[in-house]
Amino acid sequence: MDRREFLKKAALGVAAVAATSLLEHPAVATANELINNKTPNMMKKIMVIDGGPRRNMNTAAMLESFANGAKEGGAEVKLIRLYDMDYKGCMSCMACKLKGKASNICKFKDALTPVLEEIAEADGLVLGSPIYFGDVTGQMRTFLERLAFPWLSYNDYSMTAPKKMPVVLLETMNGTPARNNSKGYGSMEHCISAALGDPERLVAYNTYQVKNYDRYELAGFSEEAKRKYREEHWEEDLQKAFDAGKRMAKAKE
Ligand SMILES: Cc1cc2nc3c(=O)[nH]c(=O)nc-3n(C[C@H](O)[C@H](O)[C@H](O)COP(=O)(O)O)c2cc1C
Repeated sequence: MDRREFLKKAALGVAAVAATSLLEHPAVATANELINNKTPNMMKKIMVIDGGPRRNMNTAAMLESFANGAKEGGAEVKLIRLYDMDYKGCMSCMACKLKGKASNICKFKDALTPVLEEIAEADGLVLGSPIYFGDVTGQMRTFLERLAFPWLSYNDYSMTAPKKMPVVLLETMNGTPARNNSKGYGSMEHCISAALGDPERLVAYNTYQVKNYDRYELAGFSEEAKRKYREEHWEEDLQKAFDAGKRMAKAKE
């Protein structure tokens, strides 16, 4: 090997070593992960949407337990209380279906806009609602119209969210596992499955509708039967919510 060839080979060797060690360098790893939209230690963000009006009762308590589990699993949790917000359902403006400008995030601007934008980038979604007349609350339904209509393509009827993510659908109700009228999230469950992925369902049955049954005209309920059911199930329901939160936080992408 002449001197020229030796120098060329040596230079190529140095370049190869430099390239390898650069790839192993933490700064480069971070850059690679940034390209994939993640930093090595970036926390998962889970959006918790409370579709019930009462801050300290069953739905809120189940969601709080879920949030605690998610935080223990290392996730960041953002709680949105729909009843605190001023927003509309789908306005049928069709802005999300405009040719050349179609969007799978709602284009109508109101208080829900930043929430829908945050959900689009989140790593998990939890929806919670009491059951009213067999369905989720009107507030939850109104929110779901805004979330899901932009996912729907009227070209081929596919449902495409900006990003797939794990989803939990939580319901609380008076009904029991053996006797209830809940249709849960109804037709919206299909949209959520198709766009985000199959949801996990969490249900707290036979909840305490009030803290003191003596104060109200509620003779159709046996407070004693309610108390017995609650003693046997409520802590377990909260634990299931906590575990689901922790599982979502730790789920592999
Ligand atoms: C307007 C209204 C309608 C309700 N309709 C039903 C129903 O159809 N089925 C049912 O099982 N419970 C029904 N409930 C009971 C609630 O779903 C149940 O108490 C729930 O756990 C309340 O949630 P919260 O404590 O978070 O407010 C209804 C309650 C209200 C206020």
